[in-house]
Amino acid sequence: MTFADISRRTFLMGAARLGAVTVAGMPLIGTSHGQQVASGSGVLHRKIPASDETIPAIGLGSWITFNVGNDPVLLKNCADVMGAFFAGGGKMIDSSPMYGSSQATIGHGLASLGINRQQVFATDKVWTRDEKGGADQISQTAENWGISRFDLLQVHNMLDWEDQLPLLQDKKNAGALRYVGVTTSHERRHDLLGVIMERAPLDFIQVTYNPLDRAVENRILPMAQERGMGVIINRPFRGGHLTKALRGTPLPGFAAELGAQSWAQLILKYIISHPAVTCAIPATTRVDHMRENLAAAMQDAGTNTNTNAQYSVLPDEKMRHAIATAIGNAL
Ligand SMILES: NC(=O)c1ccc[n+]([C@@H]2O[C@H](COP(=O)([O-])OP(=O)(O)OC[C@H]3O[C@@H](n4cnc5c(N)ncnc54)[C@H](OP(=O)(O)O)[C@@H]3O)[C@@H](O)[C@H]2O)c1
Repeated sequence: MTFADISRRTFLMGAARLGAVTVAGMPLIGTSHGQQVASGSGVLHRKIPASDETIPAIGLGSWITFNVGNDPVLLKNCADVMGAFFAGGGKMIDSSPMYGSSQATIGHGLASLGINRQQVFATDKVWTRDEKGGADQISQTAENWGISRFDLLQVHNMLDWEDQLPLLQDKKNAGALRYVGVTTSHERRHDLLGVIMERAPLDFIQVTYNPLDRAVENRILPMAQERGMGVIINRPFRGGHLTKALRGTPLPGFAAELGAQSWAQLILKYIISHPAVTCAIPATTRVDHMRENLAAAMQDAGTNTNTNAQYSVLPDEKMRHAIATAIGNAL
């Protein structure tokens, strides 16, 4: 099966689901890693530890890629990326008041695609030093998205977390928010992150993780597992530097065994196969990259056409080690 075949099939399967009120409920099965995942075909789902809800293991980031201002061509392009995302079974979109016009771009995409509220897992952030400014910022963020409430709000870069986390917690207690979290993309902030994880009842943390940036493996990911916190992975491709640096390097032979057609897919498989990880949120300006990223988590993407054997879409420990080694050797 070629990548084009997988992409087309993925797109068609997802397109059939568009218009459904919720993502199809999938039965949960255990994996060799002990993490609960959904069985069946389509995008692999992961359980949110704080609830019984499952979400697709691939989400969509919006930092630089969706900061396109009012340019109608660029707005349409971003809506097309979002269209491919939803059609392929994606759900979580992540943004922040820090990302320029990205929130409004998401709002434009949701409206022009006619996406209903249940089809998106709306994830944003509060990012202010103003002790009293968080509530107004969240209202503006909701207006930008064109929605009344979020699924998940996070304290961006843990800024003023002592004031902002109680605000988010109050919203959750009042039923105006479902999940609360904090984010960072810097290893030097892991000590503070660990302190907050110890003190606050977080539903999610968002951190950087990929085959080259593995500091979270030591303490943060095990802590998240112990404390029942979901983990969102930002900067899976180091902002695109990783995929660019690997361009032109032949894929290792074992990639075919995992159904991986590109380095991007190998990287995403590496990330989401960690048992603590709930989802990765790669950003993209390209519809083909969007489909390729979702296909990394397609349950049937690992079919070996020679033997008709179904491979697990995710690498085991040995294979994960091989991915990290291959990327380390290639760069
Ligand atoms: N502290 C925080 O809260 C924090 C910090 C950083 C990021 N984040 C979140 O995490 C998201 C992801 O991180 P990021 O945007 O920094 O970077 P990223 O997802 O690691 O990389 C994005 C880049 O990867 C490229 N790309 C995407 N799919 C590809 C594919 N299949 N093949 C080749 N290249 C591909 C994109 O280029 P193309 O457009 O050409 O596809 C884009 O330039 C952000 O957008 C944001 O939502 C949060």
